[in-house]
Amino acid sequence: MTLTAHNSLADLHLALRRSEELDFDSAFTMPATFYTDPALLALESRHLFGQEWICLGRAEEILRPGDYTAFQLCDEPLVAVRDAEGQAHVLSNVCRHRGTVLVSGSGNAPLLICPYHHWSYDLKGRFKAAPRLEAHKAFNRSACRLPEFACEEWQGFLFTSLARDPQPLAPRLKPLAGRLRNYHMEGMSLKYLVTEVWNTNWKCFLDFMEGYHLSPLHRTTLHAVNPTRLCTRFEAGDAYFGYNAGYSPNLARSSKGHPDLAAAEADNCVMFAIPPALVSGCGGDYSSFICLQPESVDRVRAKMGLIFHGDDGAQIDIDRAVQLFIATMAEDKAVLVSLMRGMASAHHQRGPLAPADFEGPVLDFDRYCNRRLADAIDAQSRTL
Ligand code: FES
Ligand SMILES: [Fe+2]
Repeated sequence: MTLTAHNSLADLHLALRRSEELDFDSAFTMPATFYTDPALLALESRHLFGQEWICLGRAEEILRPGDYTAFQLCDEPLVAVRDAEGQAHVLSNVCRHRGTVLVSGSGNAPLLICPYHHWSYDLKGRFKAAPRLEAHKAFNRSACRLPEFACEEWQGFLFTSLARDPQPLAPRLKPLAGRLRNYHMEGMSLKYLVTEVWNTNWKCFLDFMEGYHLSPLHRTTLHAVNPTRLCTRFEAGDAYFGYNAGYSPNLARSSKGHPDLAAAEADNCVMFAIPPALVSGCGGDYSSFICLQPESVDRVRAKMGLIFHGDDGAQIDIDRAVQLFIATMAEDKAVLVSLMRGMASAHHQRGPLAPADFEGPVLDFDRYCNRRLADAIDAQSRTL
């Protein structure tokens, strides 16, 4: 390892520690290496994606028995599957024979069958059959099964954790669940789903959970819906952060969502992140979400979707929401990709963060990274 690598991690450690000490009106963005250093990605993979609760998508993506959807969590191929009793499982997607990835994409099947030699597993991950292996003397069939990981449903989202005995997710999100309760996200249904690979660092998706950019970047799209001036940060918890984005009073809306919503809630979108892998904007009539799967330091696979309140949503409203989402994401993508070029510049420098209501969530995310990563970064930097 070079001296530069050492300095980079040592600098990051200092910057993260400082994020905890600084006020919102004296904070700065993180150094460029926060987004470009492969040594940091290795630590994130182990201490964030390998430990935290990770959102895989919506539970309704695997609604019926036999429904499955594959997911790659850093180096771990996973598959979420619904068994015959309606229980969701998150299983290792790696064949116990020679390691082939069992299934890709989404589908429905009574068994998970490996394409290589057709070993098969049931929907709970138990070994079912292996052609021509009946005579093998040492193979223990009853002990053979796909490793299973913790699985929890929250607000209609499906989460997993690779940690051995993770603390349950829901208690950690209680205050956030309180903010979301009357929106009833758990009852919203999926109408749009797309997966894209963006050439940017995965943390840029967490950083864009701020209201500062809504009016300038999204001048002709989101500005008319959620202008910057109506954004207010809310208090972050240990496992989440976010802000409220008020809807423009001029906005025509055919539905304001669930009848439980108070007027102030119906006129507000709760923008929240459950790092490292979920960002979402929860509105009364519909909500958006993005699930993140980092592929490298400058590539991230993003599963993006829209969920709608009520069964009878007019198609025209859905189409309009989808068009707005596509246009907004295109604007976000342009800057998140281009800023990686800026991060590589010898002339890049750290900039001041805008007031808490506008860019405060960026500092909240830096502080989250400090809590989860600073010790590991420090230990790693001392070995270089
Ligand atoms: S690797 Fe899966 S059956 Fe051989
Ligand atoms: Fe944006």
